[in-house]
Amino acid sequence: MKKFPNDFKWGTATSAYQVEGGNDNSNWEVWAKNQNITSAGIACDSFKRYPEDIELMKSINLNSYRFSIEWARIEPQEGMWDIKALDYYKDLIIRLNENGIEPFVTLFHFTLPLWVEKIGGFENKQTIKYFVRFSEFIAENLQGNVKYFITINEPVLFASLSYLRGYWPPCKKNVFKFFAVKRNLEKAHIGTYRKIKEIYEKYEWDQPQISVSQNISYLKSMDIISFVYCKLLDYILNYSFLDHIKDYLDFIGLNFYFYEEISLFHKNVSLHSSVSIEYSDKNNKQSYNFYPESIFNVLQVLYKRYKKDIYITENGISDPTDKIRSKYINEYLSSVYRAIKNGIPVKGYFYWTLIDNFEWLDGFNAKFGLAFIKNEKRILKRSGKDFSNIVKRNGLL
Ligand code: FCB
Repeated sequence: MKKFPNDFKWGTATSAYQVEGGNDNSNWEVWAKNQNITSAGIACDSFKRYPEDIELMKSINLNSYRFSIEWARIEPQEGMWDIKALDYYKDLIIRLNENGIEPFVTLFHFTLPLWVEKIGGFENKQTIKYFVRFSEFIAENLQGNVKYFITINEPVLFASLSYLRGYWPPCKKNVFKFFAVKRNLEKAHIGTYRKIKEIYEKYEWDQPQISVSQNISYLKSMDIISFVYCKLLDYILNYSFLDHIKDYLDFIGLNFYFYEEISLFHKNVSLHSSVSIEYSDKNNKQSYNFYPESIFNVLQVLYKRYKKDIYITENGISDPTDKIRSKYINEYLSSVYRAIKNGIPVKGYFYWTLIDNFEWLDGFNAKFGLAFIKNEKRILKRSGKDFSNIVKRNGLL
C-alpha cells in the first residue's frame, strides 16, 4: 500500500460565496444579477446547514477543512462589523476543532464587499489598508483557534480574469491594471501576514502558518521558438507572485488543475483542464484528458524554488456522472505520493470540493463535489465513498 505520512492533512476546500448562500452584499451577487446570469443565491445553504457539512466531512473521515470568510458579510459597510456574521464563523471553527477537523481559513476568495468594489477594489491602494484591517478584526476575534490562514486565493488568476481578460467583475481588459492589481495583492498579502503574526504574538497564541493559494498550470512549450514565450508566461502567471512574497510564506499553497500546451503559432493550442469533461451521448463515449504526472513536476519545481512545506489547497474535477472522479483522485494522489517518496514535503491534500456548488461563470452546471444535494439532503457520491476509504487507510491501494 502507498501510505501517506501519519500527520497528513486530508480535507476538502470551499469558498464562502460558493457555498454559504445569502451573500447579498457581495459584488459577485449584484454583478451576476445585473448581467442576468446565475448568481450563487442560496448556494448550498451552508450558512444555515454547516452542521450537516461537518457531519458529511466526518463521514469522509476528513481531518481538515478549507473555507473562506466573506468580507462582505463581516463588514457590509465600511467600518461596520456584523457580530452575528462573526458568530457564525466562530461557531463553525469551534465545531470543526471539536470534531478533530483543522480549519484552514481563506480571507479573500474572489468576492468583495460592495463598498470596496465602489472604491475600485484592489486597483485602489486604499483597499490594501482596508483588507489588512478586516484580517486584523478576524484574527483578533478568532482567538487563536485557527492555525492555518490563506490570505488570498489565486491572486494572479483573479487579477487576470478580472482586469486582463475581462471575464469577471469589474470586467476590465488592461494589462497595466492587471499588473497594478497583482502588485496590490502582493502588498495586501504581506501586510496581512505581518498583522496576523503580530496579533498572535501579542496574545501569546501559538504562531499560525500563513500562505496564499496559488493556481499553477503546468505549461509545456510545443516547439523551440515558443520556449522563451512559455518560460515568460510561466514566470508571470505561476511564479512571480510567490517570488515577490517568498519571505512572507510559511508554506506553499498549491491549487492545481491545468496542463497547458503553449505555442506561438497556434493560438490556444490546448488547455487540458481537469475542470470539465466533455460527454458525447450519441455513441456513449466520454472523452477526457488528465495529466497526473504534471502535478509531480510542479511539486518538484515548487520545492526546488522555495524549499518549503507544500499543501495542495485545491485539486478536483467537474464530473457530472461521477464516473471518472475516483480515478482522477487516485491518479493525482499517486503522483503526490511519488513526490513525497522523492523527499518533497507535501503535507496535505484538499479536494475541491465537498458538495456540488456555485461555480462562477458556470453557475450550478459544474459538478466538482464529492456529494450532491437532493431534497435538501447532502448525499455522498460513489467517489466520495472511495475518497473516504483512501483517507481512512491514509493511503492508496
Ligand atoms: C479554482 C477556484 C475555486 C473553484 C475551482 C473549481 O480556481 O479557486 O473557487 O472555482 O477553481
